Amino acid sequence: MNETLVQINNISKIYPTGEGGFLALNKLSLDITDGEFMGIVGPSGSGKTTLLNIIGTLDEQTSGEVLVLGKHVNKLSSKESASLRANKIGFIFQTYNLLPVYTVYENVELPLLLLQMKKEERRKAVMQALEWVGLTDKMHSRPNQLSGGQGQRVSIARAMVKTPRLVIADEPTANLDTENSINILDTMLKINQDIGTTFIFSTHDPKVIQYLKRVVTLIDGEKVKDDYQTGI
Ligand SMILES: Nc1ncnc2c1ncn2[C@@H]1O[C@H](COP(=O)(O)OP(=O)(O)O)[C@@H](O)[C@H]1O
Ligand SMILES: [Mg+2]
Repeated sequence: MNETLVQINNISKIYPTGEGGFLALNKLSLDITDGEFMGIVGPSGSGKTTLLNIIGTLDEQTSGEVLVLGKHVNKLSSKESASLRANKIGFIFQTYNLLPVYTVYENVELPLLLLQMKKEERRKAVMQALEWVGLTDKMHSRPNQLSGGQGQRVSIARAMVKTPRLVIADEPTANLDTENSINILDTMLKINQDIGTTFIFSTHDPKVIQYLKRVVTLIDGEKVKDDYQTGI
């Protein structure tokens, strides 16, 4: 524990556009420690998704350094970064991204098909992940038979099934009502407390923000605040 999981040193991100490029992140530095339950907060367009995509090795900074689990991510080959993602990083998106033709069980099993795991080992991991999110009884259902809150819980199970070190959740409650938002936050907080998985959220939802132990605020691609919250 207390190892630095993500190290961001003075990164900028410029998206190529017609006239010279758009500066989406401006000289940002941030360290995230193993076991944190933290969020990137800021208005729409402030650079939250850009930052999460870079931490998740889905995109690269234009300048500066990013280390994830001690590895310089822009020095990894695409095969190495795919392996880092497949083994160590879980993703949760605003729109769940479940595959409609597959059952809940199969959706949760999907990330394990990228790993060398036997069927029986996969079954154990899927059942454990479904238990973490309280959806064992829905394992044979398909996504269109679930409520929004249940759908997002399936996507938490899918992110957790390989017991990653790090889960990245981009506005996970944006499509949920208050009750379901609180329910999925309780689920993620419990996982964080029970097995120490690090969670990095992006959000501008006050319901999410009150759960976070640390809040990093972005405005126009700049880090303007980094606060630790107590009393949670
Ligand atoms: N591929 C892209 N090309 C050009 N500009 C982009 C691209 N992706 C995002 N942006 C711009 O970068 C800024 C930050 O976007 P984003 O990281 O998605 O913000 P947030 O997630 O906080 O809403 C926005 O102004 C957005 O329009
Ligand atoms: Mg976004």
